[in-house]
Amino acid sequence: MIAVVYAHPYPMHSRACRVLLGAIESLPGVSVRSLYDRYPDFDIDAAAEQAALAEARLVVWMHPLYWYTAPALMKLWFEQVLVKGWAYGEDGDALAGKDCLWVTTTGGDEIAFSPEGRHGHRIDAFAPVVEQTARFCGMNWLEPFVVHGAHIISDAALHEAAERLRQRVQQWSEGQKALEPQMNTDEHR
Ligand SMILES: Cc1cc2nc3c(=O)[nH]c(=O)nc-3n(C[C@H](O)[C@H](O)[C@H](O)COP(=O)(O)O)c2cc1C
Repeated sequence: MIAVVYAHPYPMHSRACRVLLGAIESLPGVSVRSLYDRYPDFDIDAAAEQAALAEARLVVWMHPLYWYTAPALMKLWFEQVLVKGWAYGEDGDALAGKDCLWVTTTGGDEIAFSPEGRHGHRIDAFAPVVEQTARFCGMNWLEPFVVHGAHIISDAALHEAAERLRQRVQQWSEGQKALEPQMNTDEHR
C-alpha cells in the first residue's frame, strides 16, 4: 500500500537517508524499492516498477539531494516508468489520486538554503520540478519532508527527524483506515 522508491547511489555509505528509511521500512504495508541495489547497471524493469506503483496508495520518493534534484537513476526512473499512456496522456491514469511524499536530505544546512546562503534559495525553490512531476501524473502532493545538514546534524536530531517521518507515515496509514469504510460504501452504491 506504501511504495517507497529509494534512490541512494551508495546505500551502504548513507548516514541520513539510511536512518530515515530505517524508521519507515518495517511499518505495515511498506514496500521499499532500492533502485541502486536493484538496477546497478541502470537497466530498469519498468513493468515491475509500474506493477509496484499500481498496488500503492502512497508513493514515497526518497533520495539525497544531488545537484538540487534527484540522483541520476531516479531521473531515469521518472523517464522510463512514468510514461505516456500509463502515467499521463490518454488513458494514462495509473497514478491518478495516489498520494506522493518527497523525502530528501541535503548536505547544506538551513542557513545555506536561504537567499543569503551558499545555495541561494530555500529548499522550496528546488521542489517544483519534483512536485510537478507528481502533479502531472495526477498525484496528490503532500508536504515534503526534508532533512538539512545531513553530515552535521547530530545523531539525536537525525533520529528525532526519523521519528517525525515515521509518525507522518503512520498517521497517513491511520487516515486511510478511517477512509476505508467510506470507500467500501461508495463501491456498493
Ligand atoms: C554528486 C553530489 C551532488 C550533491 N548535490 C547537493 C546539492 O545540490 N545540495 C546539497 O545541499 N547537497 C548536495 N550534496 C550532498 C548530499 O545531498 C548529501 O551528501 C546527502 O544528503 C547525505 O545523505 P546520506 O547520508 O544519506 O548520504 C551532493 C552530494 C553529491 C555526492
